Amino acid sequence: MIPEEVQRAAEILKPARRVMAFTGAGVSAESGVPTFRGAGGLWEGRRVEQVAAPEAFRADPLMVWKFYEERRQGVARVRPNPAHAVLAAWQDRFAEWTLATQNVDGLHQAAGSRDVLELHGSLWRVRCVSCATEREELVVPLPQMPPRCAVCGAMERPAVVWFGEFLPPGVMAAAQAAAERCEVLVVVGTSAVVYPAAGLVSIAADAGAKVIEVNPAESALAALAAVALRGPAGELLPLVDRRIREA
Ligand code: OAD
Repeated sequence: MIPEEVQRAAEILKPARRVMAFTGAGVSAESGVPTFRGAGGLWEGRRVEQVAAPEAFRADPLMVWKFYEERRQGVARVRPNPAHAVLAAWQDRFAEWTLATQNVDGLHQAAGSRDVLELHGSLWRVRCVSCATEREELVVPLPQMPPRCAVCGAMERPAVVWFGEFLPPGVMAAAQAAAERCEVLVVVGTSAVVYPAAGLVSIAADAGAKVIEVNPAESALAALAAVALRGPAGELLPLVDRRIREA
């Protein structure tokens, strides 16, 4: 039997031309990547805000690199799940498609998504703290901890966005423009508490988009959502996808 919400989500999505997806850590949960605020969200007793921060890196770069290196090693071992797969398939279903993610794990791209707007950067890129040269770094484990810039020899940092830092301006602008234009916004696996990324949902809702939320837990978005799919994304998105293709 198809739950009513799955049916409603499919009815909203099927005729839509401009669709955006906005994802957070929950979309990767079923791949085995821990979320930030759930059980297991602490790292060595520290909250994410105490590790993913410029002050933390200034005080103890090796500690921060250890955290990111663990995440790189963890992600290198896992595979995208059916939620990533459905979102990758949807890029070819709708006339206009934008996928913006707060995740730094690269699993959307591993599932085949193209042109992903990575609002918080990527675990697979590093940037020199001195000359700002940025490069891809896919080697796991890192050959050198902390890694050093080949251009100037200074220390490199993860090319991710930390608390208190600006989001990459071009990426955020593209996500905001898509949020303003979309007819449907599918929000998957985010507690939507971290701004400005979370503000994308209000931008879309204010501009008249229908919001479909996929999250097993009630989130801050419940009031904005036309449909709330309360369950794991890796189970529910494939049901919605099947329903769209059948209906
Ligand atoms: P959170 O850990 O805050 O939220 C993850 C959400 O995913 C929660 O609301 C869960 O209920 C939900 N969830 C768990 N399992 C799920 C599943 N199987 N399917 C769908 N949803 C599931 O992570 P984010 O919202 O991504 O920023 O956090 C946002 C940002 O805060 C992160 O990008 C990171 C963090 O600090 C920076 O590092 C700058």
